[in-house]
Amino acid sequence: MKVSLSILNIDYLNIKADLEPIIDDLDYLHLDVMDGVFVPNISFGPALIKSIRPLSNILFDTHLMIDEPLKYIKDYVDCGSDLITFHLEAKSDILKTINEIRKYNKKVGISIKPNTPVKDLLPYLNLIDLVLIMSVEPGYGGQKFMANSLDKIAYLIDYRNKNNLNYLVSVDGGINYETAKLVNQVNVDFVISGTYVLDKNNPKQKLELLKNI
Ligand code: DX5
Ligand code: ZN
Repeated sequence: MKVSLSILNIDYLNIKADLEPIIDDLDYLHLDVMDGVFVPNISFGPALIKSIRPLSNILFDTHLMIDEPLKYIKDYVDCGSDLITFHLEAKSDILKTINEIRKYNKKVGISIKPNTPVKDLLPYLNLIDLVLIMSVEPGYGGQKFMANSLDKIAYLIDYRNKNNLNYLVSVDGGINYETAKLVNQVNVDFVISGTYVLDKNNPKQKLELLKNI
């Protein structure tokens, strides 16, 4: 299984030391940007992403949990994002935000929160590279996986196949060995995991467990 590591709960004093041993085993690095408006928490911005960009050529998967993503797309392109995912529920015009990301030749993702119906995505699925299904209420790492994400993943995989589309489907929040097996059963393309992998004792082993599913 492909894994994108969320660094939200990383030890920021030792971010380089903690990332270096595992970054090249990852498929993507997941960067959770929070503005304290769209979600109650504030995390980090372009400066932190810019500072870790030189660590690896790995795909930087930036997850914007911010109220007005359109205003900040260039900032998140300039700091080194390869894929920019914004929320369907955010204030910015969706088509304008998709086009703004495309303008910089970056990959486009849209994410939906647990209470947002998956069918709200239908008008955009032929325009994007990724759907990010939230399996927790966005804002914090270390929360419990919400099983209503499974039907959304299954629906999107089926819709993609039936309509010959090519977006990827990923899931974000509460992913550990047990829940990764559940989402694997509905053929998710990759998972985001933070707290489970960033286990102080043995992140490499936890990552291997997920990758071997
Ligand atoms: C939550 C973030 C997730 C979260 C994942 O709003 O989007 O990426 O940090 O962390 P875990 O794996 O700890 O749930
Ligand atoms: Zn995320």
